[in-house]
Amino acid sequence: MTFDAAILLLLLLVVVGLLIHQHYRQRLLEKLFHSSQQQTETLISNKIAGLFHQFEAYLSLRDRLDLKQGLPYTPYWSAGPDFLKVITEHCLQHRPNTVVECSSGLTTLMLARCCQLNQQGHVYSLENGEQYAEASREHLQRYQLTTEATVIHAPLETKSANGKPFQWYAIDQLPKGSIDMLVIDGPPGFLQKHSRYPALPLLFDRLADHCTIFMDDADRDDEREIVELWLSEYPELTHEFIKTERGCSVLTLNRS
Ligand SMILES: C[S@@+](CC[C@H](N)C(=O)[O-])C[C@H]1O[C@@H](n2cnc3c(N)ncnc32)[C@H](O)[C@@H]1O
Repeated sequence: MTFDAAILLLLLLVVVGLLIHQHYRQRLLEKLFHSSQQQTETLISNKIAGLFHQFEAYLSLRDRLDLKQGLPYTPYWSAGPDFLKVITEHCLQHRPNTVVECSSGLTTLMLARCCQLNQQGHVYSLENGEQYAEASREHLQRYQLTTEATVIHAPLETKSANGKPFQWYAIDQLPKGSIDMLVIDGPPGFLQKHSRYPALPLLFDRLADHCTIFMDDADRDDEREIVELWLSEYPELTHEFIKTERGCSVLTLNRS
């Protein structure tokens, strides 16, 4: 082969190589772009469906509880309307005498309104943040629900639960007596691992024989682990997971 022919062959190989490279690169880009576009579309339509579902739950709550002033909903911090719907349906149907909740806010207002409609029952809300306790009391006043709920300022203190230290609510102001319904939506998860775990070890002796326990944000790994721990430690409990936006764990105690 002459020198010229060798150069020609080399050039040909480089051109063919470049064409092949360009072809696959183009196909790869098309594939990537197409799938990310599809993913974005799925994400947006799921988000819209979720918002629509929450809006439906919000309207149904407002109508069911006849709350003409609307709901003072704080995105991110308030429990979602679908969780609120689950706990209010339970409260209206089972008419608990004593409701205790860990963390105050919209949940306090909704449950107090249920007690008012039931003409029985009282909500005791443990709240670690003084300003949030005050805000919840103001809401109760505005909605004329002060007879049905008490917000207890319960600073977090070091408690031992199952031999481990946790930051959890001071409960010395919580009246003695059995709890028919327990709603767990605090303390916040960023504080410590298994932040909501102490609720059962520390309140178990006060729970009524047929108490129902609701925990929000149950779709998170931390909360799933907490439920596993509770189920292994308290065989009297049964568990149902409701697929709300953030997940709702319902634990039923049956002591008899
Ligand atoms: C997840 S929130 C839930 C409150 C309540 N269960 C509800 O549904 O409205 C838990 C805690 O976050 C705190 N919190 C409430 N609103 C907040 C806000 N806007 N910013 C920071 N913390 C807030 C309060 O101490 C509250 O007890």
